[in-house]
Amino acid sequence: MLNILITGGSGFIGSHVVRLFVEKYPNYHIYNLDSLTYAGNLENLKDIENYSNYTFIKGDITDEDFINKLFEKHRFENVIHLAAESHVDRSIKDPLAFVKTNVFGTMILLNAFKDIWQNNFNGKKFYHISTDEVYGTLGQTGLFTETTSYDPNSPYSASKASSDHFVRAYGETYGLPYIITNCSNNYGPNQFPEKLIPLFINNIIHNKPLPVYGDGNYTRDWLFVIDHAKAIDMAFHNGEIGETYNIGGFNEWKNINLVKLLCAQMDQELGREKGTSETLITYVKDRPGHDLRYAIDATKIKNDLGWEPSLTFEEGLKKTIRWYLNNEGWLKNVTSGEYQNYYQKQYS
Ligand code: NAD
Ligand code: DAU
Repeated sequence: MLNILITGGSGFIGSHVVRLFVEKYPNYHIYNLDSLTYAGNLENLKDIENYSNYTFIKGDITDEDFINKLFEKHRFENVIHLAAESHVDRSIKDPLAFVKTNVFGTMILLNAFKDIWQNNFNGKKFYHISTDEVYGTLGQTGLFTETTSYDPNSPYSASKASSDHFVRAYGETYGLPYIITNCSNNYGPNQFPEKLIPLFINNIIHNKPLPVYGDGNYTRDWLFVIDHAKAIDMAFHNGEIGETYNIGGFNEWKNINLVKLLCAQMDQELGREKGTSETLITYVKDRPGHDLRYAIDATKIKNDLGWEPSLTFEEGLKKTIRWYLNNEGWLKNVTSGEYQNYYQKQYS
């Protein structure tokens, strides 16, 4: 049995990665370490929680003593590190929380991994999950490649960039075997409704305004989360040590066009008259430091590892909408309590 530590496995992307690995690789033991912040949810993995090759551990990656003991106990050969504070708007309100988890927490994991293997890294791997936001913003043209310079603009992306640099530095300095992937915007089941798509789905269900930042002409490249999980599987198994890979959907949308498509699909799914949901669109104050455009050139992972997105955006969005409509209980649970305070502070 190979012991693999997946951090942040109860969050959005992490839960899809954990499920894929637990179901596909019965000869791996998957340890999901998650501190269950507002974004972590045990419900996300209810269907696999009793598998014999799966263990959930509640714990914080910034707790050095706890992490060191955990590595001594389980001697994880491989780490797939997803735990992070992940929302740009929250990073603007509370940047230090992002430095703590994303930078300091990553350092604690790197040190624990390095110390347990004492330079005997044969067959070991530290896989760090990162974002395209580290590259900053594009103008109207061009794509981010693996050699684009880092130029982060938000406290979130600066903290992710910093953690990427530390991972790379541990590779250069200590020979720590790492892989980094930088992915574009994910969407799909289990995403916390603070991010654009699930927030707007929830608001449309409840006939609440859809707060579009600025003029709505900001552009993102969207990827269905299960396609991201499959890319992680491929990069983990076949990626070259010391390499970084960009992952993207070849799927750019201006926010306002995406929102209009979402409104049209929601009207259809809810049996509402065409055009109903669009009337909820409300232009609001822009996000400070708002990056104009992200777009990924995913040629390297396609050519080297044979990965490609499997769904069109229309298909993925429909699946996503149906998941939220069929999982009203999930949505209700995560939007009660603290969520209301967050919403009030962010959008009032
Ligand atoms: P998420 O916010 O949904 O989940 C993060 C998870 O990490 C949660 O389960 C949370 O409880 C856990 N966590 C947070 N702080 C922790 C700590 N100190 N100790 C242990 N666990 C902790 O995030 P996500 O959207 O699933 O993103 C996962 C990773 O992928 C992040 O590293 C993010 O930067 C990266 N990423 C996200 C996207 C995206 O579009 N969502 C795109 C590219 C990369
Ligand atoms: O690019 C990858 C990144 O994508 C990940 O690293 C981040 O973890 C993830 O949160 C995401 O960042 P974005 O800031 O692009 O995602 P978000 O869903 O917050 O916003 C998408 C776009 O929609 C962005 O241009 C801001 C806009 N927006 C967002 C919200 C929440 C609105 O117009 N209104 C909103 O209420």
